[in-house]
Parts: sequence; C-alpha cells; structure tokens
Amino acid sequence: MVRTKHLISIDDLSDTDLDAIVARAVDHAADPAGHGHPLAGQFAGLYFRHTSTRTRTSFWSGALRLGAGVLNFGPGDLQTTTGESTEDSGRVLASMVDILVARTCGSEDELRGWASWQGMSVVNAMSELEHPTQALTDLATMRAHFGSLSGLRVTYLGEGNNTATALALAGARIPGMEIDFRTPPGYAVDARVMARAMATAVRTGARISESHDMSALPSGMDVVYTTRWQTTGTTKPDPRWREVFAPFQVNETLWETNPKAVFMHDLPAHRGEEVTAEVLDGPDSIAFEQAANKLWTAMAVLEWVRA
Ligand code: CP
Repeated sequence: MVRTKHLISIDDLSDTDLDAIVARAVDHAADPAGHGHPLAGQFAGLYFRHTSTRTRTSFWSGALRLGAGVLNFGPGDLQTTTGESTEDSGRVLASMVDILVARTCGSEDELRGWASWQGMSVVNAMSELEHPTQALTDLATMRAHFGSLSGLRVTYLGEGNNTATALALAGARIPGMEIDFRTPPGYAVDARVMARAMATAVRTGARISESHDMSALPSGMDVVYTTRWQTTGTTKPDPRWREVFAPFQVNETLWETNPKAVFMHDLPAHRGEEVTAEVLDGPDSIAFEQAANKLWTAMAVLEWVRA
C-alpha cells in the first residue's frame, strides 16, 4: 500500500523532498501554464478556522489549476465544533476527499489526528506552532531572486511565531544558509523548535542563531525579514507589548546598515508597526512577489502530497 503523504511540519520532509518542492514552486512561477492537470478526479477540502487571504486563495486556486475539485469549510461548518473527535472527523473526511488543507491555529496533534486515516493527505495551512507552507514559499522566493539558497544571510526581526519556527526548520536544511533571529524578549521562537533547527543546522552546515538584542545588528545581509506583530489567531496578554516590539521595527534607519538587502514579509502587513511604508513599498521590497509565490508553492505542495 502506498503511504499517504502529509505536510504538517517542515520536519515531515526529507532534505530531497524540501528541495524538490522549492524547485517545483520556482518552476511553476517561471512557467505558469506548464503544469497540466495531475490532480484531475481528486478533491481538496479547505478547512480554515481563521482568516486567510494568501494561504486559502493559493490552495484554492492552485488545486483548481491542477484539476482538483475544491470543497470549502468555514470555522463553524464541521461537527468538530460540536464535539466530534478529530479521529472520527478524519475517518469520514478521508472517505470523501483526497487532501485536507487546514488552518487551525491550534495544536499539531489535531492535524495528526486527521492524518491518521489512510488516503487523505493533510496539509498544515498554519497551526499554533508552525506555518510550513509559508517557509517553503519564503525559500522559493529567495531562490528565484538570488538563483541559489546556499550562503544566503537572513536577518529575521520580530515575534518568534509560527512563520519563524517554520523558517528556522526550513533554513536549517540549506547548507551554508545563515538565519539570525532577533526576537523581542518574551516572544522567542519556541525553544524546542529552535533546538531542532540548530541540531539540523549542525548536520547541514547552516547557521541558525537567536538573540533579543537590537543594538548590534549584522550588516551586509541578503534578506531582512519581518512579520506582523499580531499573529493570526493570537492575542498578547501583556498590555505593554507594543513597547517591547517597537525597537524591532524595520525602517529607513535600519535599512542604512543593510543597503543591499531585499525586504521580505509574510503579510498581512501593518504599515507603521513592524515595517514602515517606505520600506514595504520601496524598491528593495519583494514582499508582494513573495505573496504571489504562495500560489506556486501551494501547487508544488499539492503535487508532492499526491505524488
Ligand atoms: N502569510 C499568510 O499566511 O497570509 P494569510 O494569513 O493571508 O493566509
């Protein structure tokens, strides 16, 4: 029996799988009509319990482009809302759809529960801990822009959220890649994920580091990356959190130390908070190319889980 493939964490991918998905996304972007309909006759369910513009639309449009039928489930549509177990829901859904793309903003265990039934591939469209398809998009964007990922130097500024965890795990797979996370005190990347990423980096020759210090930023970086201060599906109990985040804003002053860098952002953006309009809308920003690449990456992921 062929094993059903899932993408719940970056760590579900071998190095070869990760490289193939990123390469395929870049190929899709270069040849938007060259994909055919490999998912004809299959059905993808999209279950988004939280808001999404980029991720849901990219999987919806991508599945249709690849020939699949698409079913949409909103936050209150499934009986999990009234107490049905994820295992029972997964068992039923697996008899009716081939792929379930789910944004839960909750525990990975829920996604693993759905994935425990043979036949239905589960794709994590953002859980509490990880946003793996975002990281694959990010790597595809860097690869398309720079031609290669090896040796790239990235500074990530902002909350150690699910975008950051996925980027740490994915960047750690790339030999010679360096990602320097600068996270506000109290908002670090999950310690267990960071330990996993650092262990992977030792194997591959990548460099993953984290500090809460904005006083000695490196210069000459290739990419400066930030993320929204209010991660989807979360709140910050500390009423003074904006004071803690303020030094981490990407602005013109910061740009002077990294004039050759490109700017990336997972979006949605809040101009004047994590980034100024001058940087986000300026000539060095590739944030909207990055957003467009979510479509090509979603297609590469859909193809991979059903290959
Ligand atoms: N970056 C991202 O996941 O965007 P959406 O929340 O719009 O899907």
